[in-house]
Amino acid sequence: MQAHLAYGEIMRPTVFVSRRIPEAGLERVLAECDAEVWPELMPPPYELLCEKVQRVDGLLSTLNDRIDAHLIAAAGPQLKVISQMAVGFDNIDVRAAQNRGIAIGNTPGVLTDATADLAFALLLAAARRLMEGVQYIREGQWQTWDPRALLGGDLVGATLGIIGLGRIGKAVAGRAAGFDMRLLAFSPRTPAEEANALKIQLTTLETLLRESDYVSLHVPLNAETRGMIGHEQLRLMKPSAILINTARGPIVKARDLYEAVRDGIIGGAALDVTDPEPISLDDPLLTLPNVLILPHIGSASQRTRNLMATMAADNLIAGVYARPLPNAVRLP
Ligand code: DGY
Repeated sequence: MQAHLAYGEIMRPTVFVSRRIPEAGLERVLAECDAEVWPELMPPPYELLCEKVQRVDGLLSTLNDRIDAHLIAAAGPQLKVISQMAVGFDNIDVRAAQNRGIAIGNTPGVLTDATADLAFALLLAAARRLMEGVQYIREGQWQTWDPRALLGGDLVGATLGIIGLGRIGKAVAGRAAGFDMRLLAFSPRTPAEEANALKIQLTTLETLLRESDYVSLHVPLNAETRGMIGHEQLRLMKPSAILINTARGPIVKARDLYEAVRDGIIGGAALDVTDPEPISLDDPLLTLPNVLILPHIGSASQRTRNLMATMAADNLIAGVYARPLPNAVRLP
């Protein structure tokens, strides 16, 4: 129902913000829109989102919200924009939205360094067995300086294989260069000159898996990459190799990874993302001392999350006022 406005008063767009995002972004949204902000820690139920999109002009979503074809079909004709506070948008049926003329926004670029830092933190932590060291102390095993205890892998001279040479993959390569690592990448769409300039050797997935001491995943989740690392690929890796995943959990077949680490097919894994999320407390991966798992905190620095929130707010505001989004996702 149309609200009655006083003379000169302008009708503000209505939006639904599916989580309490950092204040920097929320303030911008509240200044420009009539916003309903979901107040709970847990994401709103899918059915509630389906109801909200029947009447709001814009939706600010997170990667926990399932924005599928059914939800898009349920949206009213007034829905102009879905602005995701993340660079990844595998939870959104972008094609369905595009077909209905609904703009999709995301937050690329601002989380590149934070995510690359975390990938590198995982690499170092797994290589030098930090979690096992912490556990060693807590279990009272530290009795003396032991010349043979907790020996890990070196980075200098070791080979890092980067799968996906987008912004984050390249930022990880930059960090690895500072550690004098040899760099391989599997990234079919990257021109050789671009990789050469960064001293990265492009190669096939098979060669990368065979030759790398550390393999780090930096591809988006889509039909091509879902399950791209399973038994077959893990078997190609060195028995000492460590797999690092800061991209999306379903890129790796979780059961296959568990069996590969358990059976010594590979040396270990360090994961910021799992399948499903959150990982179940009885997931066998949590029983392995050489598997380090974090709760999807790649972008979780204060500055980065503020930037993501303001960028998502700017996309939302542009969309509801029918302006081009500063960062729009577009499919060819
Ligand atoms: C993203 O932006 O896609 C990250 O996974 C969230 O930090």
